[in-house]
Amino acid sequence: MIDTKLFTHLADRSTRLSYDVRKEFDWQDDLSRDVFWLPENLLSVYGTNYATSCDIETLKKLSHQETIGLFRLFVKGESDLLQTILDIMVREEFSEGFDYFSHFVEEENQHMWFFAEFCRRYGGKDMPVKILKFQSQFPPAVERFLSISRIFLFEEMGDWFNVRAMNDDRLPELVRHIHRRHHLDEAGHIAAGWSVAENMWNRLTETERPDVLESAINNLSSFIDWSLQNLYNPEAYRRAGFDNVYEMRQELIEDPEREKVHSDIFSKSRKKFEKILGPEYGSIITVKGK
Ligand SMILES: [Fe+2]
Ligand SMILES: [Fe+2]
Repeated sequence: MIDTKLFTHLADRSTRLSYDVRKEFDWQDDLSRDVFWLPENLLSVYGTNYATSCDIETLKKLSHQETIGLFRLFVKGESDLLQTILDIMVREEFSEGFDYFSHFVEEENQHMWFFAEFCRRYGGKDMPVKILKFQSQFPPAVERFLSISRIFLFEEMGDWFNVRAMNDDRLPELVRHIHRRHHLDEAGHIAAGWSVAENMWNRLTETERPDVLESAINNLSSFIDWSLQNLYNPEAYRRAGFDNVYEMRQELIEDPEREKVHSDIFSKSRKKFEKILGPEYGSIITVKGK
């Protein structure tokens, strides 16, 4: 069930890269608001009329609010994924991976702390983010496959932001450092997640009916769309100074320019799924975001 070689390598890597989260970052009393905190091309308005019709100061404000929104989303999403990992890591079939799963849990706990600390220091009033429990009712083995897949799909989405933001030297160093640190840990989580999912999937194809598998894959496509919609936060728009924020959110989600970004965010995941699931099931995965 577990690729022992990969998990041993990941556990060693985590030990080598371990850090004391409370000493890792150089927290500033305040962070400059004269600069972008999120690169302009990562803003949820990028490529649309909303971006071209407002001034640079509004875009900067939006970059501050969307950074807070993204980090709040990470805190909540990571709390959910921790519960899944804590649940599966004690199962017999994952016993060989226990050491790395312990690192995984420790790292996610640290991520929750630094993202929450950033929001506490620089976020002002708590930013509401909507995380719904994603419900499905499949046989237990399929549910476990879906749970682990949702984890690394969520992590792949976060990592898409991390790798772009950490390489943008116009951002405050603290923000880049947070993205860089997160990316380093997430690279291991994502590799482990895909490996476990591939193994689970190969078993499922021997035990489950094709219609059940097809419906499980459709469920993942819905999860992808739902995750993308979470990036459009009306409260961030309101705080940046936009009006009619709910209509704005809906228009952005449906904007064809944004669809291109959505498919870019999940392009790596789609390719990997096509490889793991094979052409028959792999082609079912879609990314619409609306
Ligand atoms: Fe994380
Ligand atoms: Fe992670």
